Amino acid sequence: MKIIFVTSNRGKVLEASDVFVPLGHTVEQFLDGGQLPDFIEPQSDGIEEVTISKMKQALMMVEGEINEETALIVEDAGLFIESLGGFPGPYSSYVEEKIGLDGILRVMEGEGDRRAEFRAVVAFHHLGNTHIFRGVCKGAISLDKRGEGGFGYDPIFVPSASDGRTCAEMTAVEKSSISHRGEALKRLIQFLTPPSM
Ligand code: IMP
Repeated sequence: MKIIFVTSNRGKVLEASDVFVPLGHTVEQFLDGGQLPDFIEPQSDGIEEVTISKMKQALMMVEGEINEETALIVEDAGLFIESLGGFPGPYSSYVEEKIGLDGILRVMEGEGDRRAEFRAVVAFHHLGNTHIFRGVCKGAISLDKRGEGGFGYDPIFVPSASDGRTCAEMTAVEKSSISHRGEALKRLIQFLTPPSM
């Protein structure tokens, strides 16, 4: 199957490729007329609502291009910090752009409770139906930025299942094996390949 990933984030496409290509699928980044699509991102409290809205917009852009051999994926994620009441959550992109990782570290200065989690919602559209899959990665905000890999908040996020490294200090395959996106994509794969009776 050809999986078209609707995102402007190349890092997400690479992570999805690591998961799907070994299973014989291909993953392509969706481009609208050669350009990255420009979505209206609803300022909503739920990443699920954002994901569904983006899927509707993407479906209008691709129109007749999807057939039974092609599927569309839209994914939205957010970082939810416990001591900040779940902030930045659905505002994660905006906060990353405005105050960056250094800004988050400053806000967290002196805070003992560093628990946080990433949440991902994947919408998968195939044969006229959209299915939703969720994933969570529990962890903590590190005291400083570490690592060069990944993207976004990876240099300040240490998953609970990690040996102490941030996501940015892991390989893409290591990160996917424990990440929110990896978990949501694993659920999608289980849906695509139900266990044989
Ligand atoms: P979006 O899902 O692309 O809208 O991402 C929301 C925000 O969360 C952006 O600031 C991303 O950089 C960040 N983000 C999403 N997924 C990850 C991840 O796997 N690691 C680190 N940051 C992420």
